Amino acid sequence: MKISRKRFLRLGLAGSVALALPFGASACSSRGDDSTGNLLPSGVRLPEPFRVQLPVPPVLEPTRSDANADYYGITQRVAHAEILPGLKTEVWAYDGVFPGPTIESRSGRRTVVRHRNELPVPTVVHLHGGVTPPEHDGYATDVVTPVGGHGAGHGSGHGGHSGLNVVGEGAFDYHYPNGQRAATLWYHDHRMDFTGPQVWRGLAGFHILRDEEEDALPLPDGEKDVPLMICDRSFAEDGSFLYPSVDPSLMGEPGVTDAYMQGVLGDVILVNGAPWPQMEVSNTKHRFRILNASNARRYELALDPEPGEGSPFVQVGSDGGLLGAPVAHRTIPIAPSERFDVVIDFSKYEVGTRVTLKNRLGDGGTADIMRFRIVRNEKEESTVPHRLSDMGEFEALEETAAMPTRRFRFTQSAGGDGTMWTINGKPFDPERIGARPALGSAEVWEFVTDVHHPVHLHLAHFKVLSRQGRRSLPKDAGWKDTVDVPPGQIARVLCRFEGYRGKYVFHCHNLEHEDMMMMANFEVV
Ligand code: C2O
Ligand code: CU
Ligand code: CU
Repeated sequence: MKISRKRFLRLGLAGSVALALPFGASACSSRGDDSTGNLLPSGVRLPEPFRVQLPVPPVLEPTRSDANADYYGITQRVAHAEILPGLKTEVWAYDGVFPGPTIESRSGRRTVVRHRNELPVPTVVHLHGGVTPPEHDGYATDVVTPVGGHGAGHGSGHGGHSGLNVVGEGAFDYHYPNGQRAATLWYHDHRMDFTGPQVWRGLAGFHILRDEEEDALPLPDGEKDVPLMICDRSFAEDGSFLYPSVDPSLMGEPGVTDAYMQGVLGDVILVNGAPWPQMEVSNTKHRFRILNASNARRYELALDPEPGEGSPFVQVGSDGGLLGAPVAHRTIPIAPSERFDVVIDFSKYEVGTRVTLKNRLGDGGTADIMRFRIVRNEKEESTVPHRLSDMGEFEALEETAAMPTRRFRFTQSAGGDGTMWTINGKPFDPERIGARPALGSAEVWEFVTDVHHPVHLHLAHFKVLSRQGRRSLPKDAGWKDTVDVPPGQIARVLCRFEGYRGKYVFHCHNLEHEDMMMMANFEVV
């Protein structure tokens, strides 16, 4: 009989018998650069691309504001969305919309979001990229149980075995002090063992932080500052989301069926919740805050056709906000949870041109993402300055011999019950602390992989120092909270531990890997 992973952990066997596989032994991606995961084919006829208009998520209005903070309310609930034309898809979504409403905050001003859980399962909200006190960070076991107490039975923490900590019965106020620079953050579900399916069902939205430094720049703004959440999904014949959960109620056995433990790849590309949408633009510069919110899929963004002159993409920001200076890219590789804030200059094209945003890592439908149609002439009002930001202490931050260096190996490990994803051979254990960096300190962390793993730290932002002992890549520019590490490689990053003391997680942002234990704690002391 199969022992559940939870039970397996409780028996205390996992750590002792875990056996790391050698590099490459478990690699399953077809090409080294591709996504780690397996395609889940839809059972429905896929829609024609570029037929629906790009939706932009609504910006949430505060319910009230006072001298200390702006207060918001979000209800997590079941809703039905028309994602595929003519069909209804059940979504689990913030305010019933997928992506969730965008929250816009000012740097230095507190945001309080009351999340009410009307879903049938416990939830956790994490502000990804946020410098957030630990009790508001969305620690994986800090759950908000459903309103009315339904669905709180299994593993709610009352039994004492699961280790769950109920922070709110029905609702919780998440406090975000926003003591950080302007950046494109996002919020998403982070429930222990069930993040993959809960995000897949729709629990993700943007949280954009603005500040005066950014306001003062002549970058495209207003309607020309557009968040793009890219994610892949698969659909059943009736239009519902397909996902290979072992238990689709998400209240029993966690995890996905064995065939998908490398990661779940969908065959429909959604941008802001719409399949292969199109957007009409004027022949001017536009700023796109691109987020890869996919569970496991990686993309390499490209424009087709490329502009006759200049680079297709001028990057102005990364996970942690503005770059010091813009970086030009011909293509942009983007792993789950990364953000690239880019300017595309449509004046390089004739009015009437259709420009497709392609995915160089996809084939068939997954090679397309969305399309821009340049429909009108307009006077250019924005520019990309040569200098964008002083970036805090980024440039001055250098590795020194005195800095602690830690190495973390992200590998699949074999246990008595099959395989799971581990860090240094160990599956996630809320009680185990993998590192204790001091508040205000900087450390060098090294991530070593077997297959592709996008490694993400909560709280701490970092600078990518090197890959394979060589200098970092153009895509590594700026403050990052996620670094994509290809199969069998090593990336070294310089992390700053600032903001708060307490326990936070770091993990692989392939959500199937995360749910299957590829997560660990660090405690800022
Ligand atoms: Cu976006 Cu811990 O994750
Ligand atoms: Cu995060
Ligand atoms: Cu991984």
